[in-house]
Amino acid sequence: MPTNIPVFKGKNRFLPGAEFLRNPFEFTLKQSQKMGDFYMMPFLHRKIFVTTNHEVVAHVLQKNQKNYRKSPAYRQLRLAIGTGLVTSEGEFWRSQRRLVQPAFYKTQLEDLFQGMGIVTGKYIAELKAKTALGKPLDMAKEMMEATARIVLKTLFSTEDTADINEMYRVMMDAQDYLVYRTVKPYMIPFTYINGMHRKFKRDIAWFDGYIFDLIEKRRKDPNPPNDLLTMLLTSKDEDTGQAMSDRALRDEAVTLFAAGHETSATALSWALWLLSQHPGVVQQLRSEIDQVVGDRMPGFEDLRKLTYTMQVIQEVMRLYPPGFAIGRQPIAEDEVLGVKIPTNGIVFISIAAMHRDPRYWERPHDFYPEHFNPEAEKMRPKMAYLPFGAGPRMCIGNHFALMEMQLLLALLVREFEFELVEGHPVEPEPLITLKPKHGILMKVQPVPMSPPISIP
Ligand code: HEM
Repeated sequence: MPTNIPVFKGKNRFLPGAEFLRNPFEFTLKQSQKMGDFYMMPFLHRKIFVTTNHEVVAHVLQKNQKNYRKSPAYRQLRLAIGTGLVTSEGEFWRSQRRLVQPAFYKTQLEDLFQGMGIVTGKYIAELKAKTALGKPLDMAKEMMEATARIVLKTLFSTEDTADINEMYRVMMDAQDYLVYRTVKPYMIPFTYINGMHRKFKRDIAWFDGYIFDLIEKRRKDPNPPNDLLTMLLTSKDEDTGQAMSDRALRDEAVTLFAAGHETSATALSWALWLLSQHPGVVQQLRSEIDQVVGDRMPGFEDLRKLTYTMQVIQEVMRLYPPGFAIGRQPIAEDEVLGVKIPTNGIVFISIAAMHRDPRYWERPHDFYPEHFNPEAEKMRPKMAYLPFGAGPRMCIGNHFALMEMQLLLALLVREFEFELVEGHPVEPEPLITLKPKHGILMKVQPVPMSPPISIP
């Protein structure tokens, strides 16, 4: 006997999902409180099943995950990042995941951490010089630059700032274009006339050329550096012995670059803003950093001792998860908790709303790193906290991201004071990631008496 779930009617009789489309972050935070943890919203010819129910989530992402593919929104991404891990499906995805996974094993991460340390040390020294000019800085932009530099160093061993700036620009413009197509699908035909699509194609062609060139040079390099590109190049399928084609390599490299920097950058931007509002947490962070690291560069072994720093990062991603939602579409009709999900239905898992569900969190709307005390963690279902997703398609870069964020946050907090410029609006904007719409404009000053940082 199928179960009925609440149906969202909305103000717009013809398109109930209009509000959802405008701002899925705010919409699901608000409606999940009113409509409950599993409700349906008609959307054009589809039914969207919005959920924050951990049993539904476990069913879709884990137990019956073979019957689900990613929702149509991911297909837009293919125009820019091709068919890499984020956008591929089925057997191709499985074999690519097997090839890429070893690059993220713990031993490899330890090596990558070296490169991360070098770039971060340089970045912090440059930021100190910038702060001497006394101008406020948009820390959201700064964090994008820092994480783009880290990912380019660990992926391609590149530190050339001209390349980095151009890659960064291309990715930002491409993202704007793809979001535009997703939010205003009726405008797509015009983009082929008004030059938008042409510009996008030109940018992507530049990016492709850059990466194919790197791949070619790397294939000929007798002493290749120990970076992600070399690992991808030398990785072979255990069963077939096959390596990746140049096209697959390009798609995975661009995917790792795109998925690997904006996510961590937005989390760090939210962290700096939240910390500027919570001086008590900053004090506790500084005392931990002082005890564990003192005034040297943090090493790989320090990371597991920076437990409070980790709790702060987890709490930031609870309130502002960079990947704020996950969408899935069933391959064959499915049933979960008695509710039928048709093949054109979408299950929309609102990670943001789960992360503020009062059933799971003691202080759902407060910034409270104690939510991640080991005792508190034991009290919640595992699926209540999903910043990196869950199941076989869980983020491949989660450990990479956590170590990068611990390293950067520890150094930023130790070396600088951050204060939001008075009156600067801070507002989340759900694009591909959950970004601060107007950036995070801050007065940044070196902590008095902080010693010059030694660059390895
Ligand atoms: C704070 C940082 C990050 C967050 C919050 C994050 C979040 C996520 C989420 C939620 C997913 C699952 C999407 C889904 O199931 O539909 C995902 C997948 C993925 N992420 Fe991340 N990510 C982060 C950092 C990174 C980094 C640093 C890399 C690589 C260097 C990376 C690479 C990927 C890839 C390749 C996938 C697709 C995995 C697959 O389907 O096999 N991410 N990420």
